Amino acid sequence: MTKTTHTPVLLQETIEALAVQPGGRYIDCTVGGGGHAAAILKHSSPGGQLLGIDADPDALKKANRKLAPHYSSSILLINDNFVNLQNICIKYDFFPVHGILFDLGLSSLQLSDRERGFSFQQDSPLDMRFSPDQDITAADIVNTFTENRLASILATFGEESYSKQIARNIIRERPVTSTRQLAGIVEQTIGNRRGKIHPATKTFQALRIAVNQELKNLQSALKQAVDILGFEGRLVVISYHSLEDRIVKQFMRQEAKDCVCPPEAPKCICDHKASLRLASRKVITPSPAEIYYNPRSRSAKLRVAERVSNQSEYFDATEEYSLPDDFDTRGWRKPALLKKLKVTFSAS
Ligand SMILES: C[S@@+](CC[C@H](N)C(=O)[O-])C[C@H]1O[C@@H](n2cnc3c(N)ncnc32)[C@H](O)[C@@H]1O
Repeated sequence: MTKTTHTPVLLQETIEALAVQPGGRYIDCTVGGGGHAAAILKHSSPGGQLLGIDADPDALKKANRKLAPHYSSSILLINDNFVNLQNICIKYDFFPVHGILFDLGLSSLQLSDRERGFSFQQDSPLDMRFSPDQDITAADIVNTFTENRLASILATFGEESYSKQIARNIIRERPVTSTRQLAGIVEQTIGNRRGKIHPATKTFQALRIAVNQELKNLQSALKQAVDILGFEGRLVVISYHSLEDRIVKQFMRQEAKDCVCPPEAPKCICDHKASLRLASRKVITPSPAEIYYNPRSRSAKLRVAERVSNQSEYFDATEEYSLPDDFDTRGWRKPALLKKLKVTFSAS
């Protein structure tokens, strides 16, 4: 059955982690159904500004409808991949900001959409792309990649211990065109040895990550996000599996250090300066009540860090970059109170 709503995960915790304030400007890099975005707009009113990004044009249409009651605030919704975060911010002159949110993965709406092929609960073509503009679908991967490459994807992105056996059987059954066919191959290969978890869960996760280059894009976008944050701006990331969470945890810890030399180095030669401070050392997870009402939230992990200055000068970016000629600037302004860090990226 197609779901018509997506329940935002760790909603109150996200608003607190972002330290949303009236008049603040925020970026929601995964605007989805607009649940977190609506709460950000509510708490940043009056005068809040939101730039929402999503790779999926359908998600953006839904977000547009959901956010319509907030149109007295400034909202800009952009259909793009967050791997282009920096360029988007330069194009729309939207930096520095008070907070950036990544709520990773896919929404309940996408999961239950028959056309998208994200789920084995219904039979659909093997697509799994967040955006129809992407070239490679899951069907392309299962039907054209070599056995070794397929096994490596299942092992690396699904942490699937039976990757070789599954890859071998996929190759044997080619062409594999539908979600149910693929789930059936995995089930026949490894049986039902994972208790409540469907045996094909890891295979589907691996293919989705590979199709959308999720880990690579996340690594790149996190780096870009730090440069876009103003002084004391918050970076908040909600992840749903250990591969994503490991990237976020390592990135934040690394960026919170003044030296990243190997421990055996006799003296510091790295010149690294902390750009973040861990705003909460502990990972934030949903309460039992949230998991009860929204079981999809059970694997969520929220991490938050705050931008610190490693630079002595502040700098007004408005003089350096100009808005595109066709950009509607009504209601768009640079926030007066946001201390700006020297912007470290250059306009492309
Ligand atoms: C978990 S949902 C977000 C739900 C949203 N926070 C809400 O409250 O409705 C994740 C969204 O991120 C989008 N997404 C995932 N990776 C993306 C990327 N690299 N660039 C842009 N959007 C992405 C998906 O299309 C999906 O709509």
